[in-house]
Amino acid sequence: MSTKPTLWITRKLSDATLERAARDYDVTINHEDRLYTPDEIIQNSANFDAILPCHSELFDASVARQLDARVKIIANHSVGVDHCDLPALKARGITVTNTPDVLSDATAEIALLLMLGAARHAVEGDRLVRTGGWDFWSPAFMVGKQVSGARLGIIGMGRVGQAMARNARGLGMEIHYHNRSQLPEALENGATYHATLDSLLPVSDFLSLHCPALPDTIDLMNRNQLQKLPKGAVLVNSARGALVDEDALLDAIKSGHLSAAGLDCFKNEPGGNSEFSRHENIFMLPHIGSATVKTRDAMGFRALDNLDAFFAGKQPGDQL
Ligand code: DGY
Repeated sequence: MSTKPTLWITRKLSDATLERAARDYDVTINHEDRLYTPDEIIQNSANFDAILPCHSELFDASVARQLDARVKIIANHSVGVDHCDLPALKARGITVTNTPDVLSDATAEIALLLMLGAARHAVEGDRLVRTGGWDFWSPAFMVGKQVSGARLGIIGMGRVGQAMARNARGLGMEIHYHNRSQLPEALENGATYHATLDSLLPVSDFLSLHCPALPDTIDLMNRNQLQKLPKGAVLVNSARGALVDEDALLDAIKSGHLSAAGLDCFKNEPGGNSEFSRHENIFMLPHIGSATVKTRDAMGFRALDNLDAFFAGKQPGDQL
């Protein structure tokens, strides 16, 4: 009989991650990669000492209450943990970890893609060429919004926000940000701090969201806040769908108050918002901010590092 801890990997992680997990744990892998329901998670939990899920699996208060007492650690393969009710899991004595740092560059790259794609008509342009409908050219044709020289507002200047600022600086953008606290000068790197959204939003020609979904950031970008952006601003969200009031965003797009939006996250995932599809100035991706080979390996290894520490009797580096 194996003496290795039993580990349930609930999604199809990278090959390198699965190989390492199989070497060190008595592992069960969801090779089919289908999404488990909360009831299945509760039922299956009796077989495992540890679970390694993604943000796609829900560990809300009800699941946390009903998980089998055998489960000692949930080592998330994600930086965001809004799918986990941390107090409820803690109350059950379950350790929870995440995978910060390793996905910052990949996510900031997607934010950059969203910003440029939204600003320069990527959806409409791709459709025209792809469908053979491109039969006209004029200097007045598909004129977009230039990023160089424009002001980028960043909400949440953590690791991803800082990586986005680095990218945008390379494009000649002027960086402004709002964060719970001002960064040390060396990390600010010339960016202008705004203590309030009231101060940040009116100077944000482009606005990129990089804060977590917490009770006080749900619908952070609501009707009132969107109106504070300059006319023609572009909203970019590669963080969490919960941060944006989608009806208010649609109205801002329809009225022309926002010229475009770039979204990798939606309230409803998987699926998105079918109303958004009617607007080609909304450039959308299916929550793939961290989806590169390099980053998937790094996320998997970071989650396994946390498990290894836990089962070696140490505090995992990313314990929440
Ligand atoms: C994260 O790590 O939070 C990303 O959204 C992918 O799960």
